[in-house]
Amino acid sequence: MTDRAGSDVDAHREYHQEPLMLQKAYPYYLANEAIYANTELDVTDKYSGEVATQVAMADAKVIDSAIDWALLAEKPMAAFPPYKRQQVLDHCVQRFQTRFEELAVALCIEAGKPIHDSRGEVSRLIDTFRVAAEEAVRIDGEIINLEISKRSAGYRGFVKRVPVGACSFISPFNFPLNLAAHKVAPAIAAGCPFVLKPASRTPIGALIIAEVLAETDLPKGAFSVLPCHREGADLFTVDDRFKLLSFTGSPAVGWDLKARAGRKKVVLELGGNAACVIDRDTDLEDAVERLIFGAFYQSGQSCIGVQRIYGHSSLYEDLKARLLERTKKLKKGDPKNEHTFIGPMISEGEATRLHNWVKEGVEQGGTLLCGGNRDGAMLEPTLLENVPSDCNVVQQEAFGPVAILEPFDDFDEVLKKVNDSAFGLQAGIFTRDLYRAQKAWDTLEVGGVVIGDVPSWRVDNMPYGGVKDSGLGREGVRWAIKDMTEERLMVVRSLPA
Ligand code: SIN
Repeated sequence: MTDRAGSDVDAHREYHQEPLMLQKAYPYYLANEAIYANTELDVTDKYSGEVATQVAMADAKVIDSAIDWALLAEKPMAAFPPYKRQQVLDHCVQRFQTRFEELAVALCIEAGKPIHDSRGEVSRLIDTFRVAAEEAVRIDGEIINLEISKRSAGYRGFVKRVPVGACSFISPFNFPLNLAAHKVAPAIAAGCPFVLKPASRTPIGALIIAEVLAETDLPKGAFSVLPCHREGADLFTVDDRFKLLSFTGSPAVGWDLKARAGRKKVVLELGGNAACVIDRDTDLEDAVERLIFGAFYQSGQSCIGVQRIYGHSSLYEDLKARLLERTKKLKKGDPKNEHTFIGPMISEGEATRLHNWVKEGVEQGGTLLCGGNRDGAMLEPTLLENVPSDCNVVQQEAFGPVAILEPFDDFDEVLKKVNDSAFGLQAGIFTRDLYRAQKAWDTLEVGGVVIGDVPSWRVDNMPYGGVKDSGLGREGVRWAIKDMTEERLMVVRSLPA
């Protein structure tokens, strides 16, 4: 069976009869060890608003010590052989399979993510670690012919990849497991120690990953996972002992971190206002199914959620009617309910922000096709039409269950519209015309163009990242490993025979 996020859920799932709960308290992990100290971070159930558990909080002294430990672990991690790194990653795969439902329930509670989407994310977590386990033994080098002129006759070059060293990771709330995994798993494969700061609103997923890593024989100091307040977290950005900072989150925070990151490498996975073009002759039954998923799954809180839908005028009215019918039927409510499609947004503040953008879009002349109401953190799935292009709900990242529709006639013009954005993460193009597909690939200023599907499609071994305000660098295990390693050249001079 394939779930809505496109992963094999049932292949990994173990069913539990008992309802699963969060633990009463969770430790942080300092240099591979669980520490129960300052268990003062309340993590709420995002649907009920009640405190679901409490989590240990690191202060600046603890973060400083974690960085020292990571530095001490640089050499042991570089020397930890690839087959052992693979064993560690394989262990994680096996443990995540065993703890599948517990992980899904944790996501469902701490992020308010509908249980079906939560299971989809756990299956992707497993994919990410599985791919990293494969890549750990494939970090190869290159032989270079240096004999390009008489001067270099007899010289040969050999390039290998070596780990960059201690890494600083900051992961977001919307995929608490898999977006932490996209930093953690490649770091282990590459041989880099790391210190991870999970999102304060959703730290549990990363802490369970840490608990599983603590069962392995990774060298002491190889990992620390430290929930902490934002004020205490500056060391993750500014400390020069780190060789790389990888951040996933909002553009405003990400670009600010880069400006203050000093000499370390920086990888930024930021936001987007992804567009999807529905060209003439598209099979609307299929496209509408995919658009509903792309715009509304996990309440639209994905950087590649469908935000702007451009339909060819020949099919626009039909597209609109079908989208409306499907959107109105989406089941809203408790994310623990197996049939819920739309759960709460991460907070009432975020829902209010987006609700205000919807109202502004309508005040400025857009048409509200459906939705548009809010109850606390629950925002109805909302479709708007012909909203002026300078409105927030068009220009900014919505990051919630809202999409806007607009017709187009000319394919070249619609590509310009897609590019008329500060962002450039992924775009989706439904077309049966190979020429147009290639034109889109050539023209669109994005990190990835998805033909025949929504921009929200992602599998965990592909390069993933953006241009413009959407970020810098690429994740996707193999690409992350490239960033977490650097090339080291050896030149060999042979004496003339
Ligand atoms: C993101 O929100 O950037 C991640 C999307 C995904 O991994 O599917």
